[in-house]
Amino acid sequence: MDISDLILRAQNVLRSNDTGVFTKPGPRQYPHQWNWDSAIIALGLSHFDLPRALTEIRSLLRGQWGDGMIPHVVYHQSPSDYFPSPAFWQIETNPNAPAVPTSGITQPPVLATIIRKIHSRSPILNFIRETYPALLRWHRWLHTARDADGSGLVCIIHPWESGTDDSPRWLSAMSAIAPPDVPPFQRGDTIHVSASERPHSADYVRFIHLIDVFRRNRYDPAALLSRSPFLVQDVLFNSILYRANEDLRALALELGEPTGEIDGWLDKMRARFDARFWDETHGSYFDFDLRADKPILVNTAMTFAPFFAGLPDPTKARRLIAEHWQNPREYQPDKNIRYRVTTTSKAESAWEPRRYWRGPVWIIFNWILWDGLKRYGFDDPAEELRRDSLELVARSGFREYYDPRDGSGCGSTDFSWSAALTIEWLAGDRE
Ligand code: GLC
Repeated sequence: MDISDLILRAQNVLRSNDTGVFTKPGPRQYPHQWNWDSAIIALGLSHFDLPRALTEIRSLLRGQWGDGMIPHVVYHQSPSDYFPSPAFWQIETNPNAPAVPTSGITQPPVLATIIRKIHSRSPILNFIRETYPALLRWHRWLHTARDADGSGLVCIIHPWESGTDDSPRWLSAMSAIAPPDVPPFQRGDTIHVSASERPHSADYVRFIHLIDVFRRNRYDPAALLSRSPFLVQDVLFNSILYRANEDLRALALELGEPTGEIDGWLDKMRARFDARFWDETHGSYFDFDLRADKPILVNTAMTFAPFFAGLPDPTKARRLIAEHWQNPREYQPDKNIRYRVTTTSKAESAWEPRRYWRGPVWIIFNWILWDGLKRYGFDDPAEELRRDSLELVARSGFREYYDPRDGSGCGSTDFSWSAALTIEWLAGDRE
């Protein structure tokens, strides 16, 4: 593998998706600014164009709502053939909506972690001083508007908030929703990518139904908590938030800001995390469906997400590795599966190797897991993930996701965060 050439190609993807204000996650499929994509994109950009990386973050923050929410999509420039459009979201019915059009839901809060990572290599204290209040307000919004049961753990109200849109984790909650009167709509996501690699239409109708419920409730957080038919405490989202709170705390200390409020969030989350998510019988972390009031017993790679937060104790950590990571029926490669890590266990009946979050390999998740495994000193599995990821991008280009059987690319081409994380991994080698 020619490292310099791969870095150059990755930089070209970020450059070609750059609109000057924000970077498109994918050139045709995703023409607007996505929340956690842009944090990861900023991480990649920071290696070769730090000012542009900071612009990326500032642009995302322009979409912040008056109550603190940072939305999952910011539409700096419309129109496009992307659906849902701002006209569909109708956020202007909420007094807290920002001037720029956005979606009305959020996404995994990885931003504080990314800002701290950039700062640890290239000090950006003034930028931290500038953005810290926005980060704090977002985390505070999550810990109030999204704490449905006072536990300190937060919930999501739409599968898109999880970042893993059609994961089989959501199948039972979604099938319990009967969309009675979905407004007419035209999917945009199957124009540029084969429908066989995108969510099933049964999921899609429910995605849209949920947005319709939210807009009819004018995005009032209290109304959405009590009326959203989908209400889930998500292991991945909470792991990312816990880690982001740790990183926010470190930023607060550097600024000389008080940390009491953040300490309170961390203490509460840590005290409740295992009781809510850990299943001793399966030796796994499972999401919790608040509407059905029961855990979601679906085996996905999100069971490893708590490594990112440093939350599993040593016994649980060893079980996750021995019983799942190294299990040939679940996550270890075998004669059919060559690349790690399938986002859903091969053992699940809903597993599909080329369909979106139903089973393919995603570079973002490999990176989150790689980081978590390193934190635990599981260097061999971490290295396996990094190697597989780099092999995938080198042989099939920077794709949205990959078929774990032969490594062929799926979904969008020239995908920004796959390029950004390649730079992050390889530049680390050279620095
Ligand atoms: C898809 C992914 C989501 C990502 C977005 C833009 O919706 O599921 O995680 O943020 O695409 O890349």
